[in-house]
Amino acid sequence: MSVVDMHTHFLPKQWPNLAKKFGGGEWPWMHHTEPGKAMLMLGDKDFRPVYEACWNPAVRLEEMDRDGIDIQVMCATPLLFAYAKKANEAHECAKIFNDLALDICAHDNNRLKALAQVPLQDIDKSCEEVSRAAKNGHVGVQIGNHVGDKNLDDEGLVTFLQHCASENISVLVHPWDMLGGNRMPKYMLQWLVAMPAETQLSILSLILSGAFEHISKDLKLCFAHGGGNFAFQLGRVDNAWRHRDIIRQDCPNLPSSYTDRFYVDSAVFSDESLQLLTNVMGEDRVLLGSDSPFPLGEQRVGTLVRENKALTDKAKQKILGLNAMEFFNL
Ligand code: CO
Repeated sequence: MSVVDMHTHFLPKQWPNLAKKFGGGEWPWMHHTEPGKAMLMLGDKDFRPVYEACWNPAVRLEEMDRDGIDIQVMCATPLLFAYAKKANEAHECAKIFNDLALDICAHDNNRLKALAQVPLQDIDKSCEEVSRAAKNGHVGVQIGNHVGDKNLDDEGLVTFLQHCASENISVLVHPWDMLGGNRMPKYMLQWLVAMPAETQLSILSLILSGAFEHISKDLKLCFAHGGGNFAFQLGRVDNAWRHRDIIRQDCPNLPSSYTDRFYVDSAVFSDESLQLLTNVMGEDRVLLGSDSPFPLGEQRVGTLVRENKALTDKAKQKILGLNAMEFFNL
């Protein structure tokens, strides 16, 4: 069995000057501050300190060997999505990062795999780009969990998900552009509070809208960070569904009955949370995901799963690799 870390991020070492290319606006760029270290910038603001593993495949492979990881699936950071820009600019941007991702993977195509990004504000362009990327070797696509005010149950977004299902392209949903930012200016509260809420919101938008009643059962859909607040609050949602008709109006079945329609990664950072998550989702529906090499990722990838006292060896094997092999058709 191969151990697969299905949620990791990359940043190319350099990319074209996007502000110059598109005639202005705030675009991300890399400020290389010292050997092996850089600051990811947005316009003239610091966004996140990053290090060499983001862009150097040799360093990624060294860390994978150190942690006993056979295969890494990497995706861009949501900062690069450009969903709020013009669709043709975001399309161009997606092509650039999708091609640069494959350059990193080319260092060892058996061990480094990539998810594409798409200009999700334009569904036709997104379908076109995800098909191109899949043909070129991407093993799936990463999308943000919303586009402006549109949640995943938006008609266009459902069309995109259907397109992915029809072409057997796996989808990772990553929270981004977090709600309530004005009230969370400090302490990374947007990452700690709003991100898990965003992911829960996305899952519930698909369940309570009845979208899963129409979306193909072939769709392979995974939510990052253990699905955020979803598993812990599912009892609240079921209770509400039983007692309030406004929650049942578009959702014919008990919300918890839809947990067989999607997957979650294991990035929850506590034994108790991982046990709860595995109990709620089932051991076939949790995939090892570390969020490395970013600072909020698991520092020794796989430790949380491997050292869990409650999971059986069989469950650990599934979470560490078997589930991901099937999810990504590896
Ligand atoms: Co992430």
